[in-house]
Amino acid sequence: MFIVLGVTGGIAAYKSIVLARLLVEGGHEVHVVPTEDALRFVGKPTWEAISRRPVTTSVHEDVPEVRHVALGQRADLVIVAPATANTLAKMTAGLADDLLGTTLLATRAPVLVAPAMHTEMWQHPATQQNLATLRDRGVVVVGPESGRLTGDDSGPGRMSEPEQIAAAALRLAAGGAESAGAGTPGTRDDWHGLAVLVTAGGTREPIDPVRYLGNRSSGRQGVAVAVAAAERGARVRLLAANVEDAVLAEAGAHPTIRIERVGTAAELEAAASAAAAGVDVVVMAAAVADYRVDSVAEGKLRKEDTAGAPPVLRLVENPDILAGIVAARPAGQTLVGFAAETAESEEELLERGRRKRRRKGVDLLAVNAVGWAEGFETGRNTLHLIDAADELIATVGGSKREAAEGLLDAVLALRGRDETPLG
Ligand SMILES: Cc1cc2nc3c(=O)[nH]c(=O)nc-3n(C[C@H](O)[C@H](O)[C@H](O)COP(=O)(O)O)c2cc1C
Repeated sequence: MFIVLGVTGGIAAYKSIVLARLLVEGGHEVHVVPTEDALRFVGKPTWEAISRRPVTTSVHEDVPEVRHVALGQRADLVIVAPATANTLAKMTAGLADDLLGTTLLATRAPVLVAPAMHTEMWQHPATQQNLATLRDRGVVVVGPESGRLTGDDSGPGRMSEPEQIAAAALRLAAGGAESAGAGTPGTRDDWHGLAVLVTAGGTREPIDPVRYLGNRSSGRQGVAVAVAAAERGARVRLLAANVEDAVLAEAGAHPTIRIERVGTAAELEAAASAAAAGVDVVVMAAAVADYRVDSVAEGKLRKEDTAGAPPVLRLVENPDILAGIVAARPAGQTLVGFAAETAESEEELLERGRRKRRRKGVDLLAVNAVGWAEGFETGRNTLHLIDAADELIATVGGSKREAAEGLLDAVLALRGRDETPLG
């Protein structure tokens, strides 16, 4: 395959040496087109040695070969990695003041960009709008990841690893934008334009100022759904009930996820019902306490005060958050509930799921088995997805991120089937 590898002026240019090598070793004809600034980071001899071809940056070299358009015309695939904020802006505007610019305008081949920049530059509305425009034109965006940046900073903006970029690029060349993203976080854009509300974690109902009734939900599955949706292009509001900072970190770093922390079921209800009105998809992954303590003690309950007569906690039912959202749902909104169930068999698990789906009136219910040794505090999960016809439409799982991707695929399929509420 004839591949143009555009390299632009960021520190991550050094990682594209590995990318170029991977592509060359894969048997491809790789033409590296650096910008002038890129050559300040990695010099021409390195690109020429790795690609085994002459490298130019200017439209005024190799003029007899009409190189300024020839490369783009011949390319089967164009990759820009790293893609600086500057080059993304130039691509959006269609500027062609160097060889990379003319090549990008002259090509009809699929184009993939791997942005790399500091978090502030990445999150700037100008950069985000440029990305949205490029995506609309069919450009596939890989990454960026969240992690260590140049200097002491860390956050979203780090270029994806060369292996991930190479794999996505080759899938893109083989089968178009859809398949470029398959299985590769951060490369699909099929949730672009959708607003999503996700709840995650577990509510805590106070008994007194120091104690609470809680549950073992860590929030990992809900956070994975939020991050996967955001990376696939959605705007996400994440309501996090008692989720540890470390679990929330990935979502916190994402520019299109807004996080709000809540504690009790009542707080979650208030935040969720306010946020649900304006979104296309609601995913209620948080474990909400069915009951709260009727009367919360003002001061700490002390053993010496109740010696010989342990206190009895009277519980009252919490409002059914999902029922409220179902009742107020706007047309076209897709509602996804979660049910964590203990069951003796898969049959019993699914039956419990079907009953809960009917009770709640959601479009899709994700049921997972929980117990002393499964479901909680692990990185893995299996979700059985039951639709409004009570059909088990998919069982998705693996890592919680993989389960999240499978869930998002199922929701999109449902929305494609029928844009109206399924109730
Ligand atoms: C040390 C250093 C690191 C830089 N890293 C980045 C970067 O990672 N991403 C980015 O968008 N710009 C970065 N810049 C700024 C770009 O080099 C600058 O915007 C340049 O004009 C980009 O030109 P180009 O897009 O034509 O390659 C960096 C600049 C310096 C001096």
